[in-house]
Amino acid sequence: MGRIFKVDGASKLSPSYLPLELPHREQHIQELLKIFSPLLEREKQIPWAIMIQGPSGTGKTSVVRAFFRAISNIASERGIKIITNIINCRFMKSDFSLAQAIALSVMPSVSLRGFSATEMIQNVMEYLRNNESYLILALDDFDSYTIRKKSKLKLVYDILKQQEIIDSRLFIIFIGVSDYTLMFEESWIRNYVWRTKSKFEPYSWSELKDILGKRAKEVFKDGVVDESELIFVSRISSKFGYGSARYGLELLLISGMEAEWEGNNKINSEHIRLSLAKLEGEQEAAEFSNFSEDLREFALALAEVFEEEDISYLTLSSLLSRLKKEKQKTMEYLNRLNLEGIVDLLEFGGDVYIGLFLPSKLISLMKQRDDTLT
Ligand SMILES: Nc1ncnc2c1ncn2[C@@H]1O[C@H](COP(=O)(O)OP(=O)(O)OP(=O)(O)O)[C@@H](O)[C@H]1O
Ligand SMILES: [Mg+2]
Repeated sequence: MGRIFKVDGASKLSPSYLPLELPHREQHIQELLKIFSPLLEREKQIPWAIMIQGPSGTGKTSVVRAFFRAISNIASERGIKIITNIINCRFMKSDFSLAQAIALSVMPSVSLRGFSATEMIQNVMEYLRNNESYLILALDDFDSYTIRKKSKLKLVYDILKQQEIIDSRLFIIFIGVSDYTLMFEESWIRNYVWRTKSKFEPYSWSELKDILGKRAKEVFKDGVVDESELIFVSRISSKFGYGSARYGLELLLISGMEAEWEGNNKINSEHIRLSLAKLEGEQEAAEFSNFSEDLREFALALAEVFEEEDISYLTLSSLLSRLKKEKQKTMEYLNRLNLEGIVDLLEFGGDVYIGLFLPSKLISLMKQRDDTLT
Protein backbone atom coordinates (compact mmCIF):
# COMPACT_ATOMS: atom_id res chain seq x y z
CA MET A 1 0.00 0.00 0.00
CA GLY A 2 0.99 3.61 -0.53
CA ARG A 3 1.79 6.38 1.84
CA ILE A 4 -1.44 8.33 1.73
CA PHE A 5 -4.49 6.12 2.15
CA LYS A 6 -5.17 3.72 4.98
CA VAL A 7 -6.16 0.21 3.99
CA ASP A 8 -9.70 0.56 2.54
CA GLY A 9 -9.35 4.30 3.06
CA ALA A 10 -10.21 5.38 -0.47
CA SER A 11 -13.47 3.39 -0.39
CA LYS A 12 -14.57 5.49 2.58
CA LEU A 13 -14.70 8.49 0.29
CA SER A 14 -17.26 6.89 -2.00
CA PRO A 15 -20.92 7.95 -1.85
CA SER A 16 -22.02 4.48 -0.77
CA TYR A 17 -20.05 4.70 2.47
CA LEU A 18 -22.12 5.77 5.46
CA PRO A 19 -19.94 7.06 8.30
CA LEU A 20 -20.91 6.40 11.90
CA GLU A 21 -21.44 10.09 12.53
CA LEU A 22 -22.78 12.86 10.34
CA PRO A 23 -21.56 16.16 11.80
CA HIS A 24 -24.13 18.98 11.56
CA ARG A 25 -26.90 16.56 10.70
CA GLU A 26 -27.48 14.96 14.12
CA GLN A 27 -30.53 17.14 14.64
CA HIS A 28 -31.99 16.02 11.31
CA ILE A 29 -31.60 12.35 12.23
CA GLN A 30 -33.13 12.99 15.65
CA GLU A 31 -36.10 14.74 14.08
CA LEU A 32 -36.86 11.72 11.91
CA LEU A 33 -36.54 9.43 14.92
CA LYS A 34 -38.94 11.65 16.79
CA ILE A 35 -41.47 11.68 13.96
CA PHE A 36 -41.41 7.90 13.85
CA SER A 37 -41.17 7.31 17.60
CA PRO A 38 -44.89 6.44 17.93
CA LEU A 39 -44.14 3.43 15.75
CA LEU A 40 -41.60 2.26 18.30
CA GLU A 41 -44.21 2.75 21.02
CA ARG A 42 -46.68 0.75 18.92
CA GLU A 43 -48.83 3.80 18.45
CA LYS A 44 -49.93 5.12 15.13
CA GLN A 45 -49.85 8.85 14.83
CA ILE A 46 -47.29 9.28 12.18
CA PRO A 47 -47.50 11.37 9.06
CA TRP A 48 -47.82 9.02 6.12
CA ALA A 49 -45.50 10.98 3.97
CA ILE A 50 -42.53 13.13 4.78
CA MET A 51 -40.61 15.39 2.52
CA ILE A 52 -36.89 15.98 2.65
CA GLN A 53 -35.72 18.66 0.32
CA GLY A 54 -32.42 20.43 -0.24
CA PRO A 55 -29.53 21.03 -2.62
CA SER A 56 -27.21 18.29 -3.79
CA GLY A 57 -24.57 17.07 -1.38
CA THR A 58 -26.27 18.40 1.75
CA GLY A 59 -26.66 14.97 3.31
CA LYS A 60 -30.29 14.09 2.52
CA THR A 61 -29.69 10.49 1.51
CA SER A 62 -27.10 9.99 4.25
CA VAL A 63 -29.45 11.33 6.93
CA VAL A 64 -32.19 8.94 5.85
CA ARG A 65 -29.74 6.03 5.81
CA ALA A 66 -28.46 6.97 9.27
CA PHE A 67 -32.04 7.26 10.50
CA PHE A 68 -32.82 3.81 9.06
CA ARG A 69 -29.79 2.38 10.81
CA ALA A 70 -30.90 3.90 14.12
CA ILE A 71 -34.57 2.97 13.95
CA SER A 72 -33.79 -0.58 12.81
CA ASN A 73 -31.55 -1.07 15.83
CA ILE A 74 -34.17 0.17 18.26
CA ALA A 75 -36.96 -1.78 16.58
CA SER A 76 -35.07 -5.05 16.66
CA GLU A 77 -34.25 -4.53 20.36
CA ARG A 78 -37.94 -4.10 21.02
CA GLY A 79 -39.09 -6.86 18.74
CA ILE A 80 -40.95 -4.54 16.40
CA LYS A 81 -40.82 -5.43 12.74
CA ILE A 82 -39.86 -2.38 10.70
CA ILE A 83 -38.67 -2.80 7.16
CA THR A 84 -36.69 0.14 5.79
CA ASN A 85 -35.71 0.67 2.21
CA ILE A 86 -34.37 3.37 -0.06
CA ILE A 87 -35.34 3.21 -3.70
CA ASN A 88 -33.61 5.50 -6.12
CA CYS A 89 -36.23 6.81 -8.50
CA ARG A 90 -33.77 8.30 -10.96
CA PHE A 91 -33.91 5.27 -13.19
CA MET A 92 -37.51 4.27 -12.58
CA LYS A 93 -39.32 4.42 -15.87
CA SER A 94 -42.89 3.88 -14.78
CA ASP A 95 -45.29 3.30 -11.93
CA PHE A 96 -44.99 -0.34 -12.81
CA SER A 97 -41.24 -0.53 -12.27
CA LEU A 98 -41.55 1.53 -9.09
CA ALA A 99 -44.25 -0.78 -7.72
CA GLN A 100 -42.11 -3.75 -8.63
CA ALA A 101 -39.12 -2.31 -6.77
CA ILE A 102 -41.28 -1.61 -3.72
CA ALA A 103 -42.80 -5.09 -3.74
CA LEU A 104 -39.46 -6.84 -4.18
CA SER A 105 -37.92 -4.84 -1.35
CA VAL A 106 -40.53 -6.26 1.01
CA MET A 107 -41.07 -9.71 -0.48
CA PRO A 108 -37.89 -10.55 -2.38
CA SER A 109 -38.90 -14.04 -3.39
CA VAL A 110 -42.48 -13.45 -4.44
CA SER A 111 -43.59 -13.88 -8.04
CA LEU A 112 -45.08 -10.67 -9.38
CA ARG A 113 -46.08 -11.92 -12.77
CA GLY A 114 -49.41 -10.70 -14.01
CA PHE A 115 -49.95 -8.10 -11.32
CA SER A 116 -50.65 -4.46 -12.07
CA ALA A 117 -48.83 -1.72 -10.17
CA THR A 118 -51.79 -1.12 -7.89
CA GLU A 119 -52.20 -4.83 -7.19
CA MET A 120 -48.56 -5.15 -6.29
CA ILE A 121 -48.92 -2.40 -3.69
CA GLN A 122 -52.06 -4.07 -2.36
CA ASN A 123 -50.04 -7.24 -1.95
CA VAL A 124 -47.39 -5.32 -0.07
CA MET A 125 -49.99 -3.87 2.29
CA GLU A 126 -51.47 -7.29 2.86
CA TYR A 127 -48.06 -8.76 3.56
CA LEU A 128 -47.34 -6.01 6.10
CA ARG A 129 -50.67 -6.60 7.84
CA ASN A 130 -50.27 -10.37 7.94
CA ASN A 131 -46.75 -10.10 9.27
CA GLU A 132 -47.42 -7.23 11.65
CA SER A 133 -44.67 -5.31 9.95
CA TYR A 134 -44.22 -1.69 8.98
CA LEU A 135 -42.49 -0.35 5.93
CA ILE A 136 -40.68 2.96 5.84
CA LEU A 137 -39.93 3.59 2.24
CA ALA A 138 -37.61 6.35 1.09
CA LEU A 139 -38.09 7.39 -2.51
CA ASP A 140 -34.80 9.06 -3.32
CA ASP A 141 -34.34 11.56 -6.16
CA PHE A 142 -38.09 11.65 -6.31
CA ASP A 143 -38.18 14.94 -8.18
CA SER A 144 -36.50 13.38 -11.20
CA TYR A 145 -39.38 10.89 -11.23
CA THR A 146 -42.06 13.56 -10.94
CA ILE A 147 -40.49 15.53 -13.76
CA ARG A 148 -40.29 12.49 -16.00
CA LYS A 149 -43.83 11.48 -15.17
CA LYS A 150 -45.09 15.04 -15.73
CA SER A 151 -47.00 14.93 -12.44
CA LYS A 152 -48.91 11.78 -13.37
CA LEU A 153 -48.17 10.09 -10.10
CA LYS A 154 -51.03 7.65 -9.93
CA LEU A 155 -49.19 5.02 -7.97
CA VAL A 156 -48.09 7.42 -5.27
CA TYR A 157 -51.64 8.79 -4.99
CA ASP A 158 -52.91 5.24 -4.72
CA ILE A 159 -50.52 4.45 -1.90
CA LEU A 160 -51.41 7.59 0.00
CA LYS A 161 -55.14 7.08 -0.54
CA GLN A 162 -55.01 3.52 0.74
CA GLN A 163 -53.64 4.83 4.00
CA GLU A 164 -56.96 6.49 4.67
CA ILE A 165 -58.89 3.28 4.46
CA ILE A 166 -56.77 0.68 6.14
CA ASP A 167 -54.48 0.96 9.13
CA SER A 168 -51.31 2.57 7.99
CA ARG A 169 -48.29 0.38 7.73
CA LEU A 170 -46.49 2.06 4.89
CA PHE A 171 -44.77 5.39 5.34
CA ILE A 172 -43.02 7.28 2.61
CA ILE A 173 -40.09 9.64 2.82
CA PHE A 174 -39.77 11.62 -0.38
CA ILE A 175 -36.26 12.93 -1.03
CA GLY A 176 -35.44 15.51 -3.66
CA VAL A 177 -33.65 18.68 -4.61
CA SER A 178 -36.63 20.82 -5.58
CA ASP A 179 -39.98 21.29 -3.89
CA TYR A 180 -41.65 18.54 -5.83
CA THR A 181 -44.87 18.65 -3.79
CA LEU A 182 -45.78 21.62 -5.97
CA MET A 183 -45.90 19.16 -8.83
CA PHE A 184 -48.53 17.05 -7.17
CA GLU A 185 -51.62 17.70 -9.22
CA GLU A 186 -53.97 16.89 -6.41
CA SER A 187 -53.62 19.53 -3.76
CA TRP A 188 -54.84 17.28 -0.93
CA ILE A 189 -51.57 15.40 -1.23
CA ARG A 190 -49.62 18.55 -0.55
CA ASN A 191 -51.33 18.77 2.79
CA TYR A 192 -50.46 15.21 3.66
CA VAL A 193 -46.78 15.62 3.07
CA TRP A 194 -45.03 16.62 6.24
CA ARG A 195 -41.96 18.78 5.91
CA THR A 196 -39.08 18.32 8.31
CA LYS A 197 -38.26 21.31 10.45
CA SER A 198 -34.52 20.86 10.12
CA LYS A 199 -33.57 22.23 6.76
CA PHE A 200 -30.96 20.92 4.38
CA GLU A 201 -28.97 24.00 3.51
CA PRO A 202 -25.60 24.05 1.76
CA TYR A 203 -22.84 23.49 4.29
CA SER A 204 -20.75 26.49 5.31
CA TRP A 205 -17.01 26.12 4.91
CA SER A 206 -16.52 25.62 8.63
CA GLU A 207 -19.19 22.89 8.69
CA LEU A 208 -17.44 21.29 5.74
CA LYS A 209 -14.20 21.46 7.68
CA ASP A 210 -15.77 19.41 10.49
CA ILE A 211 -17.23 16.89 8.05
CA LEU A 212 -14.14 16.52 5.90
CA GLY A 213 -11.80 16.56 8.90
CA LYS A 214 -13.63 13.68 10.51
CA ARG A 215 -13.64 11.72 7.26
CA ALA A 216 -9.97 12.46 6.60
CA LYS A 217 -9.10 10.73 9.88
CA GLU A 218 -10.82 7.57 8.68
CA VAL A 219 -9.35 7.69 5.22
CA PHE A 220 -5.79 8.99 5.39
CA LYS A 221 -2.77 7.89 7.35
CA ASP A 222 -1.70 10.10 10.24
CA GLY A 223 -0.23 13.43 9.25
CA VAL A 224 -1.31 13.29 5.61
CA VAL A 225 -3.62 16.32 5.76
CA ASP A 226 -2.79 19.38 7.83
CA GLU A 227 -5.27 21.86 9.25
CA SER A 228 -4.59 24.54 6.65
CA GLU A 229 -5.02 22.08 3.74
CA LEU A 230 -8.30 21.02 5.33
CA ILE A 231 -9.43 24.63 5.48
CA PHE A 232 -8.38 25.05 1.86
CA VAL A 233 -10.41 22.02 0.71
CA SER A 234 -13.41 23.25 2.72
CA ARG A 235 -13.21 26.74 1.27
CA ILE A 236 -13.04 25.31 -2.25
CA SER A 237 -16.01 23.02 -1.60
CA SER A 238 -18.01 25.92 -0.31
CA LYS A 239 -17.14 28.21 -3.22
CA PHE A 240 -16.87 25.87 -6.19
CA GLY A 241 -19.01 23.03 -4.85
CA TYR A 242 -21.76 25.31 -3.45
CA GLY A 243 -21.48 23.77 0.00
CA SER A 244 -21.73 20.17 -1.15
CA ALA A 245 -20.02 17.59 1.06
CA ARG A 246 -19.85 15.27 -1.94
CA TYR A 247 -17.69 17.80 -3.77
CA GLY A 248 -15.33 18.01 -0.79
CA LEU A 249 -15.00 14.24 -0.54
CA GLU A 250 -14.25 14.00 -4.25
CA LEU A 251 -11.63 16.71 -3.93
CA LEU A 252 -10.02 14.83 -1.04
CA LEU A 253 -9.99 11.63 -3.09
CA ILE A 254 -8.36 13.19 -6.15
CA SER A 255 -5.88 15.15 -4.03
CA GLY A 256 -4.94 11.97 -2.19
CA MET A 257 -4.36 10.14 -5.47
CA GLU A 258 -2.35 13.07 -6.78
CA ALA A 259 -0.08 12.91 -3.72
CA GLU A 260 0.14 9.12 -3.94
CA TRP A 261 1.25 9.22 -7.60
CA GLU A 262 3.84 11.78 -6.77
CA GLY A 263 5.22 9.54 -4.05
CA ASN A 264 4.56 12.20 -1.45
CA ASN A 265 3.53 11.34 2.09
CA LYS A 266 1.45 14.49 2.53
CA ILE A 267 -1.31 16.21 0.59
CA ASN A 268 -0.04 19.69 -0.17
CA SER A 269 -1.77 22.77 -1.51
CA GLU A 270 -0.60 22.18 -5.07
CA HIS A 271 -2.15 18.68 -5.08
CA ILE A 272 -5.41 20.31 -4.06
CA ARG A 273 -5.12 23.01 -6.70
CA LEU A 274 -4.40 20.44 -9.42
CA SER A 275 -7.40 18.41 -8.29
CA LEU A 276 -9.59 21.48 -8.38
CA ALA A 277 -8.43 22.16 -11.95
CA LYS A 278 -9.37 18.57 -12.80
CA LEU A 279 -12.83 18.94 -11.29
CA GLU A 280 -13.56 22.33 -12.80
CA GLY A 281 -11.77 22.01 -16.10
CA GLU A 282 -9.10 24.51 -16.98
CA GLN A 283 -11.28 27.18 -18.52
CA GLU A 284 -9.94 29.81 -16.14
CA ALA A 285 -6.68 29.59 -18.00
CA ALA A 286 -8.26 31.16 -21.04
CA GLU A 287 -9.71 34.07 -19.10
CA PHE A 288 -6.35 34.69 -17.58
CA SER A 289 -4.97 35.96 -20.88
CA ASN A 290 -7.68 38.65 -20.93
CA PHE A 291 -6.27 40.29 -17.84
CA SER A 292 -4.57 43.64 -18.01
CA GLU A 293 -0.80 43.45 -18.17
CA ASP A 294 -0.25 44.56 -14.55
CA LEU A 295 -2.90 42.21 -13.14
CA ARG A 296 -1.36 39.31 -14.99
CA GLU A 297 2.05 40.20 -13.73
CA PHE A 298 0.68 40.33 -10.22
CA ALA A 299 -0.96 36.91 -10.60
CA LEU A 300 2.29 35.43 -11.86
CA ALA A 301 4.25 36.90 -8.99
CA LEU A 302 1.65 35.52 -6.60
CA ALA A 303 1.89 32.08 -8.18
CA GLU A 304 5.65 32.15 -7.77
CA VAL A 305 5.35 32.95 -4.09
CA PHE A 306 2.92 30.06 -3.57
CA GLU A 307 5.12 27.70 -5.53
CA GLU A 308 8.13 28.55 -3.40
CA GLU A 309 6.25 28.47 -0.13
CA ASP A 310 4.34 25.25 -0.78
CA ILE A 311 1.56 26.50 1.44
CA SER A 312 -2.25 26.83 1.31
CA TYR A 313 -2.59 30.24 2.93
CA LEU A 314 -0.32 33.22 3.39
CA THR A 315 -1.12 36.14 5.68
CA LEU A 316 -1.44 39.48 3.98
CA SER A 317 1.57 40.86 5.83
CA SER A 318 3.84 38.03 4.78
CA LEU A 319 2.61 38.31 1.22
CA LEU A 320 3.28 42.05 1.18
CA SER A 321 6.80 41.54 2.38
CA ARG A 322 7.37 38.87 -0.28
CA LEU A 323 5.91 40.87 -3.14
CA LYS A 324 7.37 44.20 -2.04
CA LYS A 325 4.25 45.96 -3.19
CA GLU A 326 2.09 48.67 -1.74
CA LYS A 327 -0.78 47.40 0.44
CA GLN A 328 -3.59 49.30 -1.25
CA LYS A 329 -2.61 48.23 -4.74
CA THR A 330 -2.09 44.65 -3.60
CA MET A 331 -5.56 44.53 -2.06
CA GLU A 332 -7.01 45.92 -5.26
CA TYR A 333 -5.43 43.11 -7.30
CA LEU A 334 -6.37 40.51 -4.73
CA ASN A 335 -10.00 41.61 -4.69
CA ARG A 336 -10.09 41.44 -8.45
CA LEU A 337 -8.56 37.94 -8.50
CA ASN A 338 -10.97 36.95 -5.74
CA LEU A 339 -13.88 37.94 -7.96
CA GLU A 340 -12.36 35.93 -10.80
CA GLY A 341 -12.24 32.87 -8.54
CA ILE A 342 -8.46 32.72 -8.70
CA VAL A 343 -7.60 33.62 -5.12
CA ASP A 344 -9.29 33.06 -1.79
CA LEU A 345 -9.47 35.88 0.73
CA LEU A 346 -10.20 34.61 4.18
CA GLU A 347 -10.57 36.88 7.20
CA PHE A 348 -9.78 34.95 10.30
CA GLY A 349 -8.76 35.96 13.81
CA GLY A 350 -8.17 39.58 12.79
CA ASP A 351 -5.85 38.64 9.94
CA VAL A 352 -6.41 38.29 6.20
CA TYR A 353 -5.28 35.01 4.69
CA ILE A 354 -4.70 34.56 1.00
CA GLY A 355 -4.98 31.31 -0.88
CA LEU A 356 -4.50 30.53 -4.56
CA PHE A 357 -7.01 28.40 -6.47
CA LEU A 358 -5.19 28.04 -9.78
CA PRO A 359 -2.31 25.56 -9.76
CA SER A 360 1.02 27.41 -9.82
CA LYS A 361 2.14 24.79 -12.35
CA LEU A 362 -0.63 25.94 -14.66
CA ILE A 363 0.20 29.59 -14.15
CA SER A 364 3.85 29.07 -15.03
CA LEU A 365 2.76 27.08 -18.09
CA MET A 366 0.60 30.02 -19.16
CA LYS A 367 3.51 32.34 -18.59
CA GLN A 368 5.73 30.22 -20.81
CA ARG A 369 3.04 30.12 -23.47
CA ASP A 370 2.52 33.88 -23.32
CA ASP A 371 6.26 34.47 -23.44
CA THR A 372 6.59 32.45 -26.62
CA LEU A 373 3.66 34.32 -28.15
CA THR A 374 5.21 37.72 -27.56
N1 LIG B 1 -23.01 15.73 7.62
C1 LIG B 1 -22.26 14.87 6.93
N2 LIG B 1 -21.28 14.17 7.54
C2 LIG B 1 -20.51 13.30 6.86
N3 LIG B 1 -20.63 13.06 5.55
C3 LIG B 1 -21.59 13.72 4.88
C4 LIG B 1 -22.45 14.65 5.53
N4 LIG B 1 -23.31 15.16 4.62
C5 LIG B 1 -23.00 14.59 3.46
N5 LIG B 1 -21.97 13.72 3.60
C6 LIG B 1 -21.33 12.93 2.54
O1 LIG B 1 -21.44 13.65 1.34
C7 LIG B 1 -21.87 12.83 0.26
C8 LIG B 1 -23.17 13.36 -0.27
O2 LIG B 1 -24.18 13.22 0.72
P1 LIG B 1 -25.65 12.74 0.34
O3 LIG B 1 -25.57 11.74 -0.76
O4 LIG B 1 -26.31 12.34 1.59
O5 LIG B 1 -26.24 14.11 -0.21
P2 LIG B 1 -27.65 14.37 -0.90
O6 LIG B 1 -28.21 15.58 -0.23
O7 LIG B 1 -28.45 13.14 -0.89
O8 LIG B 1 -27.21 14.76 -2.38
P3 LIG B 1 -28.02 14.52 -3.78
O9 LIG B 1 -29.17 15.47 -3.80
O10 LIG B 1 -27.02 14.85 -4.84
O11 LIG B 1 -28.45 13.09 -3.80
C9 LIG B 1 -21.95 11.43 0.82
O12 LIG B 1 -20.76 10.75 0.47
C10 LIG B 1 -22.02 11.61 2.32
O13 LIG B 1 -21.33 10.58 3.00
MG1 LIG C 1 -29.08 11.89 -2.38
